[in-house]
Amino acid sequence: MDKLNIRKSEEMWDEALDLVPGGVLGIRRPYNFVPGEYPLFLTRGKAGHVWDVDGNEYIDLLCAYGPIIIGHREEEIDEAVTEQMKKGFCFNLCQPWQNKLAKKMRELIPCAEQSFFVKTGSDATTSAVRIARGFTKRTKILRCGYHGWHDWCSEVHGGIPEAAYKDTLEFKYNDLSSLEKLLDGNKGDVAAIIITPVGHPLAKPVEVPKDGFLEGVRSLADKHKAVLVFDEIRTGFRVSLGGAGLRFGVEPDIALFGKAMANGYPIAAVCGKRNIMKVLADAEVFISSTFFPNSMEMVAALKTIEILERERVCDQIWERGLVFQSELSAVVEASGAHASFSGIPPMPYITFDSDPEKKYKERRKLFFTQAIRRGLFMQPYHHSYIAFRHTDEDLKRAIEIIRDSLDIVAKEIP
Ligand SMILES: Cc1ncc(COP(=O)(O)O)c(C=O)c1O
Repeated sequence: MDKLNIRKSEEMWDEALDLVPGGVLGIRRPYNFVPGEYPLFLTRGKAGHVWDVDGNEYIDLLCAYGPIIIGHREEEIDEAVTEQMKKGFCFNLCQPWQNKLAKKMRELIPCAEQSFFVKTGSDATTSAVRIARGFTKRTKILRCGYHGWHDWCSEVHGGIPEAAYKDTLEFKYNDLSSLEKLLDGNKGDVAAIIITPVGHPLAKPVEVPKDGFLEGVRSLADKHKAVLVFDEIRTGFRVSLGGAGLRFGVEPDIALFGKAMANGYPIAAVCGKRNIMKVLADAEVFISSTFFPNSMEMVAALKTIEILERERVCDQIWERGLVFQSELSAVVEASGAHASFSGIPPMPYITFDSDPEKKYKERRKLFFTQAIRRGLFMQPYHHSYIAFRHTDEDLKRAIEIIRDSLDIVAKEIP
């Protein structure tokens, strides 16, 4: 299969490098894909597909890194937002949508006695950390997973005083003893344990919670009187309407939602127990931003959630994801490409098994090159997502592309 024509993308990229440091910030830089093979600018999307500036069309299995839960340009949501735009959405005071959305969160999410709304996942995780510190009057944070770009948790340390990291300690997913050790070593100092309920380390297989793991985290948090925070920024409104916590039967004290909750509009939510959120009510802890009360994204969230409920979107994605997962696992298994399938039904991932000669890197590059050339947009270092508007035809085609691409890997890098 020939290389894609991405000439316009490349011209725009040269311009971007001059105008924007690094061309674009963070994880959308070319080295996160396959440089020279992937497009660099997209122009439009519809349902489960996206188009680049050169006119190439792709089945989109990355879903904007998670926000697209229903599909691109979902008219019902866009129309609701447009109606609000006509009335205005950025005012001196809060608009009634706040209460409606907080009520909805309370209805759906077990720990959401109270909620407030911010813009990004990083806003939400940082808010939770501040609330937990204010509530417990302790400083240490035990964390497990990616929680965004702010000082307390950024994985790249440049520009951040080392002191910012000294109170944030990492434990291993699915390893209760690593958490217990940190709790024992920091007795009386731990304000919060923050964890993604599903493990999704960069470029490594997705990890499903082992039996008893999340329950164990809950009981250790109780024993040490630390606030338990579930970072549901990826899993929320995807794994289930009440979050992965609800699906796996473990209730945190604070749960954080973002990405999928408004099908692409920028909003995130901090939901928690009233007695903990009280530090905000009492103004002991300060959280505020000019744009937090804007209503456009609240309208989008309410309409998205309405569709998620009405169409049983999470259940349907789970059911279709299960079929996709079983077909894909069989394809991966049969391929002989030294690949592995991991994930949960809404979040599938193909990784290449590490080997001493590091051929897995070449295999990964070849696989994702072949897939993008055939019109399947995935990310080599990040799991995929299934959206509601991915049709059976899209998923069938995705499996064919993955099979063909793995066959080439098996042949060329045995
Ligand atoms: C689990 C998790 N938490 C927090 C964040 C940060 O969210 P944002 O990029 O919206 O700031 C992310 C982003 O990928 C995430 O996956």
